[in-house]
Amino acid sequence: MRIGMLATVLWATLTACQNVTYDYVIAGAGTAGLLLAVVLSENPDVSVMVLEAGNDARHQSNVTDPERRGTIQHTQYDWGLESTLQPYLYANGTGGSQYVPRGKTIGGTSAMNWMIHNENSRIQLDIWESLLNLTGWNWTSMSTAFRESETMFGPPAAEAEDLPYNASFHGGAGPICSIFQRSVYTFFSNCVQPSLVNAGYETPHDGNNGNANGPNFLPFAVCPQNYTRSYSGSAYTAIEPRPNLHILESAHVSRITWNSTQTPLTASGLEYIDTAAGNATSTVHAREIILSAGIVYSPQILQLSGIGDPFVLSAAGVDTLLNLSSVGTSLRDPPMTNYWPISFQLNETAAASANLTGNEYIQNLIDLEPASQMLSPEDYEMASTWLNSTSSIPGLADAQFAVFKHLWFTEQPLIEMAWQYTVANVTPYNLIPLSQGTVHINSSDPLHPPAIDPNYNSVNVTLNGTEVQWDMWFLAKASQYYVTRLATTEPMASMITGTMPDYRLSFEEWYDAIFEWTGSSQHLTGGNPMLPREAGGVVDTELLVYGTKNVRVVDGSVFPYQPSAHPMGVTYALAVRAARILQGMPCGGGLTMTEQLPASNVSASATAMFPMNSRAV
Ligand SMILES: Cc1cc2nc3c(=O)[nH]c(=O)nc-3n(C[C@H](O)[C@H](O)[C@H](O)COP(=O)(O)OP(=O)(O)OC[C@H]3O[C@@H](n4cnc5c(N)ncnc54)[C@H](O)[C@@H]3O)c2cc1C
Ligand SMILES: *[C@@H]1O[C@H](CO)[C@@H](O)[C@H](O)[C@H]1NC(C)=O
Ligand SMILES: *[C@@H]1O[C@H](CO)[C@@H](O)[C@H](O)[C@H]1NC(C)=O
Ligand SMILES: *[C@@H]1O[C@H](CO)[C@@H](O)[C@H](O)[C@H]1NC(C)=O
Ligand SMILES: *[C@@H]1O[C@H](CO)[C@@H](O)[C@H](O)[C@H]1NC(C)=O
Ligand SMILES: *[C@@H]1O[C@H](CO)[C@@H](O)[C@H](O)[C@H]1NC(C)=O
Ligand SMILES: *[C@@H]1O[C@H](CO)[C@@H](O)[C@H](O)[C@H]1NC(C)=O
Ligand SMILES: *[C@@H]1O[C@H](CO)[C@@H](O)[C@H](O)[C@H]1NC(C)=O
Ligand SMILES: *[C@@H]1O[C@H](CO)[C@@H](O)[C@H](O)[C@H]1NC(C)=O
Ligand SMILES: *[C@@H]1O[C@H](CO)[C@@H](O)[C@H](O)[C@H]1NC(C)=O
Ligand SMILES: *[C@@H]1O[C@H](CO)[C@@H](O)[C@H](O)[C@H]1NC(C)=O
Ligand SMILES: *[C@@H]1O[C@H](CO)[C@@H](O)[C@H](O)[C@H]1NC(C)=O
Ligand SMILES: *[C@@H]1O[C@H](CO)[C@@H](O)[C@H](O)[C@H]1NC(C)=O
Repeated sequence: MRIGMLATVLWATLTACQNVTYDYVIAGAGTAGLLLAVVLSENPDVSVMVLEAGNDARHQSNVTDPERRGTIQHTQYDWGLESTLQPYLYANGTGGSQYVPRGKTIGGTSAMNWMIHNENSRIQLDIWESLLNLTGWNWTSMSTAFRESETMFGPPAAEAEDLPYNASFHGGAGPICSIFQRSVYTFFSNCVQPSLVNAGYETPHDGNNGNANGPNFLPFAVCPQNYTRSYSGSAYTAIEPRPNLHILESAHVSRITWNSTQTPLTASGLEYIDTAAGNATSTVHAREIILSAGIVYSPQILQLSGIGDPFVLSAAGVDTLLNLSSVGTSLRDPPMTNYWPISFQLNETAAASANLTGNEYIQNLIDLEPASQMLSPEDYEMASTWLNSTSSIPGLADAQFAVFKHLWFTEQPLIEMAWQYTVANVTPYNLIPLSQGTVHINSSDPLHPPAIDPNYNSVNVTLNGTEVQWDMWFLAKASQYYVTRLATTEPMASMITGTMPDYRLSFEEWYDAIFEWTGSSQHLTGGNPMLPREAGGVVDTELLVYGTKNVRVVDGSVFPYQPSAHPMGVTYALAVRAARILQGMPCGGGLTMTEQLPASNVSASATAMFPMNSRAV
């Protein structure tokens, strides 16, 4: 057998793992999948096997050192994918594809990302239950789960004034650490913050209190003992060894194996390709199958297993076992000016005193704002009139459009302005794009990635008689309005010589500049939306794939619409809530709801001890 391969993560006498039957087999040791495995295996009577296509990089500084965030991109620990050509993005006129980095390692994309760690607003998550009929999924249940995942360390006393935080909105014993950055550059506290206040924006507060609006210094998932990345990989390190939790690396899941192909389909396990052993194929059997392979590969595995749109499947040479055409739909990515931020050009005196030294964490202050704060009164009125007079738009499910309108009129965050880097600049994101796309297989080869098409900027609407591409129009209008307001408000107004692009440009010229700079925010979610089946869902409120008995999806592909928080925190909340749902099931093999550990004890052994183990690969 392949004991050598297992040595990094296994200690048990696992002589024939392909013949062992587990309670759970999970595809992907990523952000959600590995945290789910850690929580499920708290019960020693529950056996969990995780199959991870990538390799272990937990000891590498490219992962552990927050200042080296992102450096695993373009290495063996990155899937390094590309979207299909995107005709409605600028990309220098070529309609080019977008780079889609995703972690291919223990911890998945949580080993690669920027570690910004926040939650959604109350209304945004309550809509899951009230408008989307997802019973049990609301802000209370999701923020409870988030707090179970978190150990928050408050800011240093000297920073407390600039970093408002309230311990009652955070967790104290979860496996993922949250901290605030150690310094708040004087430019932000002396210039940006007072200018925002003078321009009429909210003052900072703890954005995890159910209202995420306003400028906030966000927590980062970093372990304060030594400033190392806190992520699902370190949560796993902290609980090693558990004889009931096994992880195989270099195990690329190819498809679900079926015990019965009568509807509802009953799975018997997951087949995988051992990429470290000549691509040999094996199967792990389990009672419950969980896909946590992320937005690209969870939809792919379902389709390769015969679940999806028959047209897509047959074109790829896969027989359809279950017609579920929603598989691979509702993929989206908030567009942002990722090629270049908007800059405020400081005069010499201001630049000398701005103290833009250091580079501790890339995004220092994040301002989330509703449409009414980001558009001029005329533009807001015009867009609102269009929204109120339109019930359906092509390319978007009516339920999704209804959610968008609700978010718009209840003043939920729709635009993020991220102040960042070592210079005075800000990057706008359109948090909830109307454009949605697909992730569909175009080959039956599991090692051939599916076609990733977020379909950026593809929704055209008519505002006051003029056809506009909505997502770019809103991003460009919002950014010009915000930058103009700040640039003309004290103290910013006297400190700058101008902005880049110049806020005084005509809207058409400003639009062109912003369009040229806009691309992926790397916040892709969707592909297997949790929605009622007739509303285009792939999984139900127990994360069970419709038409199956024991196949679930637990990762960022299930979000029914785009979170306006950065997706990692919501993904951890999803993992913890999924664990609680599974533990509460009859024959779930886990803890029952009444026997559940009190929240304060959950994963207590995993708290803030990162990283513990530097075992060699
Ligand atoms: C560069 C970058 C920066 C980001 N910054 C932030 C940020 O600062 N804050 C934030 O909140 N969000 C951020 N995000 C987004 C966030 O990291 C992701 O939304 C989230 O981590 C996705 O989690 P997941 O569980 O859905 O998938 P992943 O974490 O990607 O997990 C999927 C796992 O499955 C494995 N896998 C895939 N296919 C197979 C297969 N066939 N067989 C076996 N294993 C497989 C993968 O290797 C991976 O380990 C960022 C994303 C990127 C790319
Ligand atoms: C595993 O199962 C296969 C087929 O069911 C069998 O041929 C093989 O001998 C088993 N391996 C071990 C180690 O038991
Ligand atoms: C760490 O990151 C750097 C910069 O991206 C890269 O050159 C190097 O190969 C990485 N190291 C490993 C071991 O992947
Ligand atoms: C477009 O091309 C020009 C010239 O090659 C380059 O300076 C600019 O950065 C490019 N813009 C984008 C968005 O790639
Ligand atoms: C939610 O339920 C209501 C009432 O039954 C129904 O009108 C609505 O279409 C449902 N929404 C979705 C998204 O299924
Ligand atoms: C939210 O969901 C939980 C179950 O997950 C339920 O107990 C609660 O009543 C729901 N509603 C609110 C407002 O909390
Ligand atoms: C498959 O079905 C057989 C007979 O129905 C049953 O004995 C066996 O336990 C099932 N295996 C799995 C993994 O579900
Ligand atoms: C395994 O498959 C990959 C992708 O098809 C291929 O590049 C590689 O050569 C294969 N390895 C072996 C040992 O066959
Ligand atoms: C430059 O900015 C400072 C504030 O830092 C301001 O007091 C001063 O008037 C500005 N100088 C010029 C020439 O505008
Ligand atoms: C700039 O930052 C350094 C380090 O944080 C601090 O010691 C210094 O006082 C700051 N300077 C000003 C002008 O605020
Ligand atoms: C649109 O409808 C909302 C209520 O849904 C209302 O508050 C708002 O005034 C309307 N706006 C316009 C411009 O019609
Ligand atoms: C949207 O309108 C633009 C022209 O403004 C056009 O080039 C584009 O093809 C349209 N997009 C769609 C999806 O129809
Ligand atoms: C971080 O701190 C932990 C606990 O103090 C220690 O075991 C680990 O080696 C440290 N990691 C690094 C990268 O310094």
